[in-house]
Amino acid sequence: MNPIFQKTRRLSNGVEMPILGYGVWLTEEKQAAESVRTAIEVGYRAIDTAEVYFNEAGVGEGIRNSGIPRDQLFVTTKVHNDSQGYDNCLRAFDISMKKLGMDYADLYLIHWPMRSTYVETWRALIRLYEEKRVRAIGVSNFHPHHIENIVKDSGVWPMVDQIEMHPRLVQPAVHDFCDAHDIAVTAYCPLMHGNLDLPLLADLGAKYGKSAAQVVLRWHIQHGNIIIPKTLKRERMISNAEILDFELTAEEMAAIDGLSNGTRYTDDPDNFPWDA
Ligand SMILES: NC(=O)c1ccc[n+]([C@@H]2O[C@H](COP(=O)([O-])OP(=O)(O)OC[C@H]3O[C@@H](n4cnc5c(N)ncnc54)[C@H](OP(=O)(O)O)[C@@H]3O)[C@@H](O)[C@H]2O)c1
Repeated sequence: MNPIFQKTRRLSNGVEMPILGYGVWLTEEKQAAESVRTAIEVGYRAIDTAEVYFNEAGVGEGIRNSGIPRDQLFVTTKVHNDSQGYDNCLRAFDISMKKLGMDYADLYLIHWPMRSTYVETWRALIRLYEEKRVRAIGVSNFHPHHIENIVKDSGVWPMVDQIEMHPRLVQPAVHDFCDAHDIAVTAYCPLMHGNLDLPLLADLGAKYGKSAAQVVLRWHIQHGNIIIPKTLKRERMISNAEILDFELTAEEMAAIDGLSNGTRYTDDPDNFPWDA
């Protein structure tokens, strides 16, 4: 088996999180059951879902059908915006676990920093962590000022910040802040949501005998990011993991960083339309 599937990042509480996971955004429930089972068969041991992907039941089914014991897998889910607030979040967690068919999550995240509720939602995540219903807690789409607010309120730092990050959106300020506070950065939309057609990536791919996707995923892991690429295709599940056998130079890393132009495939955490 490809050794990357055993590689982990130690979170600040000592929990080991695989550096390569499998994402299931925009995968409908039935398809999720099939693709998650295939991803696990290929070797993936971490799955990234969310309440709002409406496929947690499919993810749970795929996991059960894989035959791999639950304790050898790392399952992340997220509380969505309408379910935030202390009591609402505790209820939403129970529903997510029921859909997944599990009694614990490895990682539970606040999906977006809903202005009026994210601070109290964080208190609910702390409770779930203290009750050992989740092995780690974190946030998603949080900028440093959001993180500072939850820490000011609770004294508890998130273990992970899952943010949009790729060559078109490098976000060094968020990354540096997370590094300084031992918060593991998970890069979502790591493959620019499939928009990989950039000459520099093709040139580097030609140099190393790799695809543009492999060059980008290698760039992520050299930046220390956890990655959760999504594909429905088995052959891409395999090739997206074949990134340990080459190394980008410092100049090449900087050149890819230089592609950043602020492109987002989702929303800006400081200005997103559903934050009433
Ligand atoms: N926290 C958040 O707010 C948030 C937001 C967005 C995403 N996420 C998470 O991050 C995961 C990944 O992000 P994403 O799904 O938006 O995008 P992504 O992983 O950046 O890209 C997925 C797209 O790239 C294509 N692709 C995958 N491997 C490829 C390869 N080797 N060559 C060419 N194309 C390839 C896939 O198409 P095929 O299926 O046809 O291969 C798919 O269209 C999500 O599934 C989700 O778990 C989190």
